This record gives sequence, structure tokens and C-alpha cells, in this order.
Amino acid sequence: MNRKLLLAAIGIAGFLVYLTGCSKASEDKLAGTQTCDTTNVSYSRQIVDILQNNCYSCHTGAASSSGIDLSDYSHFKVHVDNGDVVSAVTYTGNVTPMPYGLPQLPSCEVNTIVAWVHQGAQNN
Ligand code: HEC
Repeated sequence: MNRKLLLAAIGIAGFLVYLTGCSKASEDKLAGTQTCDTTNVSYSRQIVDILQNNCYSCHTGAASSSGIDLSDYSHFKVHVDNGDVVSAVTYTGNVTPMPYGLPQLPSCEVNTIVAWVHQGAQNN
């Protein structure tokens, strides 16, 4: 009888270890996918990519939405310097959230833009 109880206890303990091990593993996995390196953000290597994938479809050249051309550094910088780009992608302030009519950018892309602006919004 005692032996059976002992076996049951070991079984339960093992199951608990299995459960916590499992949730630990999925936490690690989540943390891994959420890593976002925002040190020394580069306009040419990172920001242009984000704009290309999410903004250029509406904001390049003469036909730009609301006349807001983001297609090169000097044009983009105007809207960065007046605060509109950060407000638009962070959904803060009085500007229309961007990308227009689409879900907010993933947090890593928002953080990358914000970090680049805080780092001086350089043409780097
Ligand atoms: C589907 C088309 C579309 C996409 C994609 C898009 N925009 Fe816009 N954008 C617009 C329109 C339309 C307006 C004018 C909105 C208004 O006046 O309310 C606008 C306005 C803006 C403004 C001025 C906001 C204001 O209220 O003054 C900024 C800044 C801007 N967009 C940046 C961006 C950025 C950065 C992206 C990419 C992350 C982006 N947009 C993606 C259509 C788009």
C-alpha cells in the first residue's frame, strides 16, 4: 500500500516537473521571438526596409497621400522632425494612425523607428 502511494506521489511530482518545464520552455521561446535590437539603428539598412514594406505604397512621389512623400531621407525627415511620424506609428497625439487603415506595425518596428529618432534621426 505504501509503495503504491509512493509511486503515485512520484508520478504526480514528475507530472508537475513536466508541466513547469514545459511552460518554462515556451516562455523562453516567446522571449526569443520578441528580441528586438534597437541599438545604433540605421536609416538605410532598417528604416528604409520598414517604410518600403508599410508606407511607400501610399507615400511616394507626386501622388503621395495628403502630399506626404516619405520616399527619401530629406522628405521623410521633414515629417520626422515635426513629430508626425512617431505620433502616427505609436498611435499618439493628434495625427491619423499609420499605416492608414491597416493594423499597427509590430512593436519591434515601432520601437526601431522611435529609437532611430531618439538617436538623432541620422542619414546613416
Ligand atoms: C493605405 C495608404 C497609406 C499607408 C500604407 C500609409 N499611409 Fe500615411 N497617410 C495616408 C493618408 C490617406 C493620410 C492622410 C490622413 C488624414 O489626413 O487623416 C496619411 C497621412 C500620414 C501622415 C500625416 C498624419 C497627419 O495626421 O497629419 C504621416 C506622418 C504618415 N501618413 C506617415 C505614414 C507612415 C510612417 C506610414 C508607414 C508606417 C504610412 N503613413 C502608411 C495613407 C497611408
